[in-house]
Amino acid sequence: MLRSQFSLSLLSAFGLFSLACGAHRGPFEVSKEDVDVEGYVCGGDQGAVVYYPSNSDNPSPLISFAHGYKAGGDKVDPSYKTLLEGVASWGYVIIALKSAPSDFCWQETDDQIRSMEWIKTSKFADIIDYGKKTGLLGHSMGGAATHLSANNADVVTAYNIGAAVALHPVYVAGSSKVPILYGTGSNDTVVPPSSVKPQYDATQGVAKVYANIEGATHFEPNTVPPNRWTDYTKAFFDCHLSDSEEGCDVIFGSGENSLCSGEVAMTECIFDGAPSSQDN
Ligand SMILES: *[C@@H]1O[C@H](CO)[C@@H](O)[C@H](O)[C@H]1NC(C)=O
Repeated sequence: MLRSQFSLSLLSAFGLFSLACGAHRGPFEVSKEDVDVEGYVCGGDQGAVVYYPSNSDNPSPLISFAHGYKAGGDKVDPSYKTLLEGVASWGYVIIALKSAPSDFCWQETDDQIRSMEWIKTSKFADIIDYGKKTGLLGHSMGGAATHLSANNADVVTAYNIGAAVALHPVYVAGSSKVPILYGTGSNDTVVPPSSVKPQYDATQGVAKVYANIEGATHFEPNTVPPNRWTDYTKAFFDCHLSDSEEGCDVIFGSGENSLCSGEVAMTECIFDGAPSSQDN
């Protein structure tokens, strides 16, 4: 009795601790599988890694992920598993392309779309909720790919894309056609905030967010703690793909766990065009 009470309080203490540090993991266990896609236009590895909730009774929305420069091929999983497993554990199927293992490929946008095309006719189609819109996610070079995919009206329609998260994205001109979150960090010297902000400024007619985490480097999305984008990425997709009020509150609200007014210090955090329930 005493012993179980003790472990219970230990458990709740741990729960509080992990909450305070940002609950990076959701309710589902995550499996991952290497798959052979083929047809990627960027060279090298023609495979992808699929991350998916393995103990969910319901199908999950789809996200197509694009990696950064030199982080393709076998480096995709070790570089991004904290972010991708973290988001998948909340109920998302994520396909992460492996092409362009070590070169800069401006056509990574085509491969991000190719992933979506491929998965539709794969065995994973059964666990994807195609009643919901799909998401785009990318880092650095893959942030540019994400932005380019989101700018492409034909692609947005064909793949029913509903939201994009571009983390530390290499500069691309033009406006996303879907709600977009631009993430950067004040200590990012690879793709400085000064080249990300103009992308936010150029975005017209959709919900848009620009968040600059104080002290974050270019590698905040990579598998080195503290991985502060994981929870906000999940919330942004929850808000726009699943109409989750809770998700929208995290992104556009002013609560303790919110992006712009929460515990993660921001050098700058602004948004425009929040869903109507968040208008004040
Ligand atoms: C950010 O950069 C400043 C100035 O170079 C440095 O003093 C600070 O330690 C850096 N912070 C982090 C978290 O790397």
